[in-house]
Amino acid sequence: MKTLFRGKHFITLDDYSREEVDSLLDVSRYLKMKFALNEPHRMLQDKTVFMMFFEQSTRTRNSMEAGITQLGGHAHDLTPDKMQLSHGESAKDTAEVLSGMGHAIACRNCFFGYGEKNQLGNNYLRELAQYSRIPVMSLQDDWYHPMQGLADLLTIQEKFGTNLKGLKICISWAYATSHAKPLSVPQSQILLFPRYGMDVVVAGPKEFPFMPEIVEKAKKNASDGGGSLKFVDNMEEGFRGAHIVIPKNWGGFLGVKPPKGQARVEYLGTDEAKKQMKTNLEKHKGWICNEKLMKITDRRSVYMHALPADRGKEVVDSVIDGPRSIVIDEAENRIHTAKAVMALTMGGRP
Ligand code: CP
Repeated sequence: MKTLFRGKHFITLDDYSREEVDSLLDVSRYLKMKFALNEPHRMLQDKTVFMMFFEQSTRTRNSMEAGITQLGGHAHDLTPDKMQLSHGESAKDTAEVLSGMGHAIACRNCFFGYGEKNQLGNNYLRELAQYSRIPVMSLQDDWYHPMQGLADLLTIQEKFGTNLKGLKICISWAYATSHAKPLSVPQSQILLFPRYGMDVVVAGPKEFPFMPEIVEKAKKNASDGGGSLKFVDNMEEGFRGAHIVIPKNWGGFLGVKPPKGQARVEYLGTDEAKKQMKTNLEKHKGWICNEKLMKITDRRSVYMHALPADRGKEVVDSVIDGPRSIVIDEAENRIHTAKAVMALTMGGRP
């Protein structure tokens, strides 16, 4: 078991070795047991985490805030409108100032800025981390959602045991209209699951690609971890024989090409780009997880979703509310894994 985590940033699980991820899972299970037994575990007494949410959240916000309370500390629930960053204060100044006042900075910034060097998503978190003297935790950005990935892995191990080699897991695109969901959940999953020997099949229309760097790294992770990664263009092929299915929408940010010379981030805000994304989305209305698809999965299969789900669009009610659905366990595990990350990076061994 790895024990030296204090001060380490948590931006992607790819920055953590397999042994370190195992340790995070062990501590999650330990803290889950403590919680179940109603035993105090105030390991971060009087410590403060500054949570900066650029977007809405139910699971992440509440797992972090309830989690730090249970660990004996306190969270500041911050949004840009409460901070001077709304007047342009830099990530550098924000990180340096908060470093002097508390024990961790946690941030959700999903603004899609792939290839752009400014205050968007992962670039913003990386800049916070560069100047912070306390750990910076991602609460999701445009590239990664490591808190979700860790909770998903814990949930899968609870259902299938710790040896996951040979399990087929289908990560499928699904139709949704609530909003263009970030790429970060499926990207974190394709990076992480093959490291544990799982055979990952991504099913998705060609208009909804992942970032090429992520796919390359995920292939390397599969080769190093004994798992596999393949891409198919239909749900049936992905679902057939799968032990785990995760059908979920992700936005087609990269399926829309900006005109030559125009930055993608600026183009995505235009009416023309929005129209292209909508056209691409509406072509694939039939991508919904239903009973017929669940029937071709393995007889032990489970249905997962990071939530929130677009009911009737990504998934039918009878599947998400049915016996194979483990979405509520998956959501609960967000608090146990968040507590493990905080306990180890904000406290733990000096
Ligand atoms: N899965 C997830 O991150 O949920 P929230 O957006 O509610 O935090």
